[in-house]
Amino acid sequence: MATLEIRNLHARAGEHDILRGVDLKIEGGQSHAIMGPNGTGKSTLASVIMGHPRYEVTAGSVTLDGEDVLSMTTDERARAGLFLAMQSPAEVPGVTNSDFIKSAMNARLPEDENVSLFKFIRELDAAVDKLRMREDLPHRYLNDGFSGGEKKRNEILQMRLLKPSIAILDEIDSGLDVDALRVVGENVTEMKSSGFGLLLITHYQRILDYIDADTVHVMMQGRLVKTGDRELMKRIDADGYDWIKDELGIEDERVVPEGEDPASLGECAAKEAFEE
Ligand SMILES: Nc1ncnc2c1ncn2[C@@H]1O[C@H](COP(=O)(O)OP(=O)(O)O)[C@@H](O)[C@H]1O
Ligand SMILES: [Mg+2]
Repeated sequence: MATLEIRNLHARAGEHDILRGVDLKIEGGQSHAIMGPNGTGKSTLASVIMGHPRYEVTAGSVTLDGEDVLSMTTDERARAGLFLAMQSPAEVPGVTNSDFIKSAMNARLPEDENVSLFKFIRELDAAVDKLRMREDLPHRYLNDGFSGGEKKRNEILQMRLLKPSIAILDEIDSGLDVDALRVVGENVTEMKSSGFGLLLITHYQRILDYIDADTVHVMMQGRLVKTGDRELMKRIDADGYDWIKDELGIEDERVVPEGEDPASLGECAAKEAFEE
C-alpha cells in the first residue's frame, strides 16, 4: 500500500506565493490527473513534493505512508518511493544513463546490497524494448543530445526500473507524437498495481486517452479548485477552462499576474525556473 497525503500545502519562491492550499490524497492503485492552464502552479507542486530547494514551504504537510516527507532530503524522498518525471529533464553529460539508473536502484536498497548486474541488464533491456527506445540510449550520457521524445521515454524507463510507490509525471505528453504517446501510455498503465499511485500532470487531455485517470483535478491560482472524473476531463476537452473560471468567479487563473511574472519578463533565473 502507498499513500501520499498532501494537506493545505503552501509554498513560495522568492516573493511569490505559488501554492496556496493544496489538498490531495493518492492511494496505491489510484491514478489522479491534475489539469490546468499554464502558470497555475502544477510543476511547482511536483517540485515541492520532491523537495526542490528553490521553494519554501510556508504551511501544510506532505506524508507518504504517514511519514513526514517535508523533513526528508530529496534523495530520502526518492528512496522512500517518490518519483518525479520532470517536465524538462536535465542533461547530465559525463554520467551514462545506465550508470545513473543503476546508482538510483542501488540507493533504494539497504547499504550492503546492490542490484545484481545480470538482473539489471535483463530488466534494462526489457524496458528499452517495451519503450521501443533506441538501443544505444542507455549507454549514452544522461539525456545528453536526446530528442524531446527520447527524454520523455527515458523518464519512463527510469520509472519502470525504479518501481516507485508514487510516481508524478509532469507533462509527460509534451513533445510526444501519437505513437510515442501510445507507447508511454502502455508502459505507465502496465505499472498499475495496489502498490503504485500515479499523479499525472497535464495541460491537454489527450494523454488521458492512453492512461486512464480515475480522478481529475483542476488547478488554478495554486489550488485544486475542482475535482471530478472522466466527465470533467471530457468537458474540459470540449469547452476549455473558461466555464470553470466563470463558475468559481476566477478572473485570472495564474498564480503570478501577467506583467509580474518573472518568466514573461525574460530574466535569466526566472526563465530557468519557468523551464523546469
Ligand atoms: N522558482 C521560481 N521563482 C519565481 N517564480 C516561479 C518559480 N517557479 C515558478 N514560478 C512562477 O509560478 C507560476 C507557476 O509556475 P508553474 O508551477 O511552473 O506552473 P504550471 O506548471 O502550472 O505551468 C509561474 O508564474 C512561474 O513563473
Ligand atoms: Mg508546468
